[in-house]
Amino acid sequence: MKKETPLESPIDDLIASRWSPRAFNPNFFMNKKIINSLFEAARWAPSCYGDQPWKFIAFDKSDATAWSRALNCLSIGNQNWAMDASLLVVACANKNFNHNGSPNRFGQYDTGAAAENLCLQATSMGLSAHQMGGFDSEKIRNLAKVPADFDIMACIAVGEALQQTELSDEQKEKELAPRKRRPLNEIYSINEWKK
Ligand SMILES: Cc1cc2nc3c(=O)[nH]c(=O)nc-3n(C[C@H](O)[C@H](O)[C@H](O)COP(=O)(O)O)c2cc1C
Repeated sequence: MKKETPLESPIDDLIASRWSPRAFNPNFFMNKKIINSLFEAARWAPSCYGDQPWKFIAFDKSDATAWSRALNCLSIGNQNWAMDASLLVVACANKNFNHNGSPNRFGQYDTGAAAENLCLQATSMGLSAHQMGGFDSEKIRNLAKVPADFDIMACIAVGEALQQTELSDEQKEKELAPRKRRPLNEIYSINEWKK
């Protein structure tokens, strides 16, 4: 479903088209080609020293047992809609540089960039991605065997968003809510910090 993005200045349509739906087609399944393209996009994100501190773990709905275990790590509110997505991705950030083992204070920043690449790639393929912070980190760590030197940053639900005509009344309320952002002049200033 395309959502209106009120712009103050023109931007690329791919960026304007990305949004985070909560209504997915429960009958849509990913194939390996789509999954690989999502992570290929993540792979080409920039990173400090080119260190690539990210690591992703994917749970595909076609493996029902693994899928339900992963879904179970999300908050109840997120489970309610993410259950209809097709892929759940756990995004992890290395706390230390791969190249010399010293603390990497940019690992989370770089992993966020890689995650956004993944979300934009999903959008470009006619799919949607919705990032989540509402999950039980320790449950995911145990389930996916994430080592202690990686932070678990986010879960990302990817799937095919429902069209407006396919939404239930309950889904309409959230899905059709207008997109909002702070005004442009509040988020950047020239030469010095502006309140
Ligand atoms: C790190 C992060 C955590 C988020 N956590 C949740 C979440 O737990 N549940 C949810 O429904 N949306 C979550 N979101 C989605 C945001 O609410 C959404 O991106 C924001 O409202 C802007 O909407 P848009 O993505 O449609 O532009 C999260 C997004 C990010 C980046």
